[in-house]
Amino acid sequence: MAAFIRHAVALGFKEICFLDHLTITDSVRPMTMEVAEVPLYFQAIQRLKRDYSDRIGIKAGLEIEFHPRHTGLFNQIVADFAFDVIGSSIHQLDEVDIVSGPNGSGAANPDPDHLQHRYLDYLEMMLGYEYFDIICHLDLPKKFGGNLSPSFDDRLADLLSKTAGRNLAIEVNTSGYDHAAAEAYPSPHILATLNQTGIAVTIGSDAHRPEEIGRHFGRATEMLQSAGIGHLTVFTARRPSQVPIPPCRFPSKRLPPSRNALP
Ligand SMILES: [Fe+2]
Repeated sequence: MAAFIRHAVALGFKEICFLDHLTITDSVRPMTMEVAEVPLYFQAIQRLKRDYSDRIGIKAGLEIEFHPRHTGLFNQIVADFAFDVIGSSIHQLDEVDIVSGPNGSGAANPDPDHLQHRYLDYLEMMLGYEYFDIICHLDLPKKFGGNLSPSFDDRLADLLSKTAGRNLAIEVNTSGYDHAAAEAYPSPHILATLNQTGIAVTIGSDAHRPEEIGRHFGRATEMLQSAGIGHLTVFTARRPSQVPIPPCRFPSKRLPPSRNALP
């Protein structure tokens, strides 16, 4: 984590937030942090926060893999640790990893239409809970290219329109520019549609390596401005606030693939 911080300092960031993944699953050995590692992760960030306090602001976040049977444990974890922000995401449908290869790792049904709508079933379930502040990489089923069906976009917009009044933000995740999808998560079309509903937006580079910090923020800034979005939401102690989007000077060049392909 110190290497990520040093890179962010070198790029001139005033603040970064770690959002490492936590996966609780019944059957698949996760590629990510497990529950027993959360205290170590949280304490490490607190130490780094102190060590670098004169150079950069550091926040502690967690990206939780949604699982309908483990939401009680999610509530307990977010109550036990003073995270600044909690993200929630879906990488696994019915215990099948949909992001580790073009058809997932042994996906029972690789039909794209089925997968897209099963993903939205999970999202609908996820939106029934309140343990999180950010929805991460919203239209992830496009990761390996191919178009999402118009009905995907319509149902997604319908689901999110029901979140009005909650302090939820959508993550603009710039890792998608380096995937076959070749665009951010979510797409410009979805982002423009969602902006009409007034939903808040934040940004993340999904950096799995220090050099991925701030990747494609220039392109994402242009996309946000085209969608009529002038502010980003940031979280401190799980309370949202708005910051204007500054002019961006971060790199937009395509990076070679990460060793770990998980978004
Ligand atoms: Fe993720």
